[in-house]
Amino acid sequence: MSATVSSRVAAPAPPELAGTTPLLEVRDVSKSFGSVIALKDISMSVHAGEVMCLLGDNGAGKSTLIKILSGVHPASEGEYLVEGKPVRFGSPRDALDHGIATVYQDLAMIPLMSIARNFFLGSEPTRGVGPFRRFDLETADRTTRDEMAKMGILLRDTDQPVGTLSGGERQCVAIARAVYFGAKVLILDEPTAALGVKEAGVVLRYIAQARARGLGVIFITHNVHHAYPIGDRFTLLNRGRSYGTFAKDDVTREEVVTMMAGGEELEELGHELEEFARADGLAAGRLGEVGRELEAEARG
Ligand SMILES: Nc1ncnc2c1ncn2[C@@H]1O[C@H](COP(=O)(O)OP(=O)(O)O)[C@@H](O)[C@H]1O
Ligand SMILES: [Mg+2]
Repeated sequence: MSATVSSRVAAPAPPELAGTTPLLEVRDVSKSFGSVIALKDISMSVHAGEVMCLLGDNGAGKSTLIKILSGVHPASEGEYLVEGKPVRFGSPRDALDHGIATVYQDLAMIPLMSIARNFFLGSEPTRGVGPFRRFDLETADRTTRDEMAKMGILLRDTDQPVGTLSGGERQCVAIARAVYFGAKVLILDEPTAALGVKEAGVVLRYIAQARARGLGVIFITHNVHHAYPIGDRFTLLNRGRSYGTFAKDDVTREEVVTMMAGGEELEELGHELEEFARADGLAAGRLGEVGRELEAEARG
C-alpha cells in the first residue's frame, strides 16, 4: 500500500463546506458486542449537499455504524451530534424525528401493493371523517407521481404493483418516500449491491438528485466503482477501524481500491508469514520480521 495514502488521516470538510455545521457527525464512536469489538474510534460527518461514501469490505463494520446513526443500536462510546447538538437515540423513530432516514436493502415494501400505496405505507393520506374516512387515492397518486418526477423518474402508472418495478426503480421509490417525508440525511445501505450496471446507474443518478436538493447522503457500499463517481468524500473502514476520510480531490480511485483490498491482503499475508516463522523456528526469524512489517504497513 502506498505510504502517502495511509499517512493522510485527516477528515477535512471540502473547502466549500468548511465552517458549516455538519448535518450529522460522530466522534470517536466505538461499539462492542460482548467481547467482539465491531467498531473502534470512528469519526465521520456529512454536510448538506454532500455525498459521503462509507466504504469497506464485508465485516468492516459498515452496517454496525449505520445502525448507530439510525438509532437501532446505542454506541458503546463516543459522541453523536445532529446539526451540532449532542443526541442519544433510543429507537429508529428518534432518528427519523431528527430527519435521519435509512433505506435498507430489503426496502420494507409490499410487492403486490401499488407504487402509490407503498409510497404512503404507514402514513396514508385520508379523506372524509369517522366511518367515511378512507385512503385518499387521488392525493397519493398525484404526490407519488410528482415526487418521482422531481427526481427525474416519470411513472406512467402509480397504480401498478411495486413488484413490477425493477430493483433500481424500487430503490428510487424508497428514497423518494424518505425525501418526501422530510429526511435531511439519507442513509443508503448498499443500495446498488444487488443491481446490474444499468440499474445501479439509475440509483446513482437519483443519489445525485437528492444531493442537488440539499440532502446529506451517506452511501454505503463495498463497490469502489459505484462510490467513486458519485462521492464527495470517502470514509474507509477496515475491520472496525477507520483508515480516515478522504476528499475526492485528495485520493485516486486506485488508492481507494488499494486501501480497501490491498490493506486486508497485506495484513493476511503478514499473519501467514509470522505463523510460518514461528513454525519454522529460529532460522525463519527474518521472515517473522517481514511479516510484522507487512502487518504494520497494512494497518497504516
Ligand atoms: N449483533 C451483533 N452481535 C455480535 N457481533 C456483531 C453484531 N453485529 C455485527 N457484529 C460483528 O461486527 C463486525 C462488523 O459487522 P458489520 O457491521 O455487519 O460489517 P459490514 O456491514 O461492513 O459487513 C463483524 O465482525 C460482525 O460479526
Ligand atoms: Mg453490511
